[in-house]
Amino acid sequence: MRAVIDLRSDTVTKPTPGMRRAIAEAEVGDEQKREDPTVTALQERVAALLGQEAAVFLPTATMANQIALKLHGRPGDVLVAEEHSHVLVYEYGGVAAHAGLLTLGVPGLAGRISSDQVRAAASPSTKAADQRVTVLSVENTHNNAGGRVWPLDELEGVVGAAHELGLAAHLDGARLLNASTALGVAPAEIASRFDTVTLCLSKGLGCPLGALLASSEELIDRAWREKHLFGGAMRQAGIVAAAGVYALDHHVERLADDHARARRLAEALAAAGVPMELDRVETNFVQIDVAPLGLDRSDALRQLRDGGVGLSATIRPTVIRAVTHLEITDEDIEQAAERIPAALLAGVRG
Ligand SMILES: Cc1ncc(COP(=O)(O)O)c(C=O)c1O
Repeated sequence: MRAVIDLRSDTVTKPTPGMRRAIAEAEVGDEQKREDPTVTALQERVAALLGQEAAVFLPTATMANQIALKLHGRPGDVLVAEEHSHVLVYEYGGVAAHAGLLTLGVPGLAGRISSDQVRAAASPSTKAADQRVTVLSVENTHNNAGGRVWPLDELEGVVGAAHELGLAAHLDGARLLNASTALGVAPAEIASRFDTVTLCLSKGLGCPLGALLASSEELIDRAWREKHLFGGAMRQAGIVAAAGVYALDHHVERLADDHARARRLAEALAAAGVPMELDRVETNFVQIDVAPLGLDRSDALRQLRDGGVGLSATIRPTVIRAVTHLEITDEDIEQAAERIPAALLAGVRG
């Protein structure tokens, strides 16, 4: 039995023995010279998986998002996105710093905005006729909404509206494979409608680092220039790309297990009296609002940690989250389903 079950994030995983073997055995070359065969193989594989022409390997999903958004706008152009999306909230204003973009955050429901909201956002509202929205960014699954998934018809609506209006559409698909797993569709069915797509390797896929940006041949050529400019052009990067290839072979189908475990945990917590909105648990995130329990976030997280389970804060001040991942077993879920109510409800029960 583990002393602490770490449910803070799906980014906490360490490479498995099989992944470490793949890393050790990787064929490598100079990535900057496009001579690393493992990087090249990963890029080709991810482009095909996402229904895009090409992809480029990058150290982080943040860099992938930043490069993509820079490709879609000039300084002074406007990026529109759901107001709590990662590109607006957690990337340190990178789109302003790197691309000179203004940002327009639109309130969403479950991390999703509507095509009407996109149309309204894109209609010129200033007297500067040439200051305009040029790019829409969509996040799927949506982190701050609690791993929520876009239904395909809604996605089609907003991307269609963006394209009608002449905007580029970027998908922050850091957890895209969670979305495709939840919907039971091929990843390309979601990703191929976008002009650029970020896929992260170091979340549910369990790699130590790495992300890809996929798009057309033309935009990926331009992205390579940005990769150098950002300092993200590497050398024998096949060492880490090998983990990505391994993860695509071994860690995609099992994302369904993470989702099933999150659901089991949520149901067990609800049954134990922890406030829980079960219909919001769509992938590997379980959110708990601790306000009805009379707790504040930091007390709740401390009590949980003392009780042997790690959860983490979210953007909502009274909501905390548990996230399932590669290292979480069925037994961990059973244990967590006991430890979480014990830690959170102790005071409530008096
Ligand atoms: C939706 C989303 N996009 C992008 C990122 C950035 O990933 P990275 O930490 O690899 O830069 C994250 C990280 O949590 C994320 O949740």
